[in-house]
Amino acid sequence: MPKQATTLPVIAVGMITEFEQAESILSTGEADLIALARAVLFDPRWPWHAAAHFGAQVRAPKQYLRAQPSRLPKVFG
Ligand SMILES: Cc1cc2nc3c(=O)[nH]c(=O)nc-3n(C[C@H](O)[C@H](O)[C@H](O)COP(=O)(O)O)c2cc1C
Repeated sequence: MPKQATTLPVIAVGMITEFEQAESILSTGEADLIALARAVLFDPRWPWHAAAHFGAQVRAPKQYLRAQPSRLPKVFG
C-alpha cells in the first residue's frame, strides 16, 4: 500500500540491509522511517556505518569519542 493512502506516519520494515537501499526508501518518500531487525543484530553499529558511508555525522557519548577511526575524522562531529 503506498504511503499516500494514509496520513499516518509509515515505517518500512523487512529485508532492508543496504545503506543505499535504506537511503532510497527515505529520500524518495516511500516511508517516513525505516526499521531494521536482522541487519542490526548482525551489526549493532549499522546506523553509524550508514552515516559514515554517506559522510554524515552521529552523536556519540563522550566516552566513545576516542574511538573515532582516523579514516573517518568527522564522523563524531
Ligand atoms: C530475533 C527477532 C525477534 C523478533 N521479535 C519480534 C516480535 O516480538 N514482534 C514482532 O512484531 N516482530 C518481531 N520480529 C520481526 C522484526 O520486527 C521484523 O519485522 C522482521 O525481522 C523483518 O525485518 P528485518 O528484515 O530487518 O529483520 C523479530 C525479528 C527477529 C529477527
